[in-house]
Amino acid sequence: MKHIAVLNGPNLNLLGKREPEIYGTETLDDIRRWVETELKAIDPDIDVSEWHQYNNEGDMIDAIHRHGFEQDGIVLNPGAWSHYSYALRDAIASVETPVIEVHLSNPHAREEFRDRSVIAEVCAGRITGLGKNGYLLACLALTRTE
Ligand code: DQA
Repeated sequence: MKHIAVLNGPNLNLLGKREPEIYGTETLDDIRRWVETELKAIDPDIDVSEWHQYNNEGDMIDAIHRHGFEQDGIVLNPGAWSHYSYALRDAIASVETPVIEVHLSNPHAREEFRDRSVIAEVCAGRITGLGKNGYLLACLALTRTE
């Protein structure tokens, strides 16, 4: 069994209500259920053992420290922290578990400040603009890279 932690950053608790023209109408719980159902059908050996959302940066850093030595992979939607949080970058660089950065929208097609990810270079990979598929693809990639 491969264990994955899916960690979601600020404002993603408002998915479903938040800017639906950009993020769609599904909630974070809808996405979680969809990912788990898809994984069960594709590869029942993949277990999303942790799924969390944090609005506070320190809580996210604690979660990366905790899961970054015990899980086989981390799928991280860092939200806006992606664009400026060196503390998050250092947390990812400090742990052993590979991290894939996921964004529902395509930050490169939006405001200029979203063009930059300060965490990309310490992540194993990055998936943007593919909506909820990004979460699923990241789970699959993290369990097939050995
Ligand atoms: C996001 C993209 C970020 O730029 C934004 O700040 C978010 C959501 C996404 O999933 O598309 O909060 O991470």
